[in-house]
Amino acid sequence: MVDNADVKTAIRRWWADFPMTYGEEHGNTEYAGQGGVEAVELGSREFFENADATFYRWNMPLHGPEGPFSRLFDYPRYRGARVLEVGCGMGCMAMNWARQGAEVAAVDINPVAVAQTRNRFSIFGLSGDIREADGETLPFESESFDFVYSWGVLHHTPGTKAAIEELRRVLKPGGGVGVMLYNRESLLYRFLVGWQEGFVNMERRWLKEVELASRYADGDRREGNPHTWPVTKREIREELFQQYQGVDIRVLGTDVPNVLNIWGPELGTKRLPLPRIKALARRWGWSLWITGKRST
Ligand SMILES: C[S@@+](CC[C@H](N)C(=O)[O-])C[C@H]1O[C@@H](n2cnc3c(N)ncnc32)[C@H](O)[C@@H]1O
Repeated sequence: MVDNADVKTAIRRWWADFPMTYGEEHGNTEYAGQGGVEAVELGSREFFENADATFYRWNMPLHGPEGPFSRLFDYPRYRGARVLEVGCGMGCMAMNWARQGAEVAAVDINPVAVAQTRNRFSIFGLSGDIREADGETLPFESESFDFVYSWGVLHHTPGTKAAIEELRRVLKPGGGVGVMLYNRESLLYRFLVGWQEGFVNMERRWLKEVELASRYADGDRREGNPHTWPVTKREIREELFQQYQGVDIRVLGTDVPNVLNIWGPELGTKRLPLPRIKALARRWGWSLWITGKRST
């Protein structure tokens, strides 16, 4: 029986060893450029620019005239307000909030993420309160933030529900929440992980479902991702976000064209008509963007 504390130690260690660099391989600092693949130094300005370029490219449809991710985040509304990110990784999102004039706090469970987010803020001349902390037990007063968000994090912690409850605790009444969680009902999970790896390659014989999910999520095949448990829309509505008001779930399917390409060459990027791909992406995407608010 694995103890919760042991799982947390493993999570902290694994993400520190393989941080969210958006490199050619999970955790490395090599990026493809015009001159081929080049390694850059972790923590250099060049590193942050490369990591951001990849992260932004993966999420192209979410950017708008107000800046990166402005189709998700209402930056003008929270100018001067207190905003918290849980699981900030290399600070790719927190930086935009600081640039847009929010009073930013950001936490991550792994020390490399915290050191690098602080480093980023210093390189780009921004200020923020960046701390090492577990999203399941936040070091902040109740009702102290206007907006809280988390991107691709809370399915990696065993207490997903506790962390979502913690976000609500630190929100001011009427404050807003935005959380991205992986989707267990996605093309990627149902067919690539469940069908291909679990059934055809018979991995379910040796692995429990959560172990299978962890193995083929972030760090795919690198082995050792300690915990990843994607969620369903039903779980979001009936279990995880029950205490929030006005909950809305949007499926983000930027991964779908690439998943389709695994079935047939250029199936998702050239051969299927765009409206069909968009429809598939809206139904079968790997990411769920959940928004809501704390009741007043
Ligand atoms: C997939 S990365 C996402 C990072 C960042 N949000 C991004 O999109 O680039 C997951 C991050 O969650 C952090 N994490 C995992 N469990 C956590 C927890 N319980 N509390 C805080 N951070 C956690 C990891 O250290 C890692 O930096």
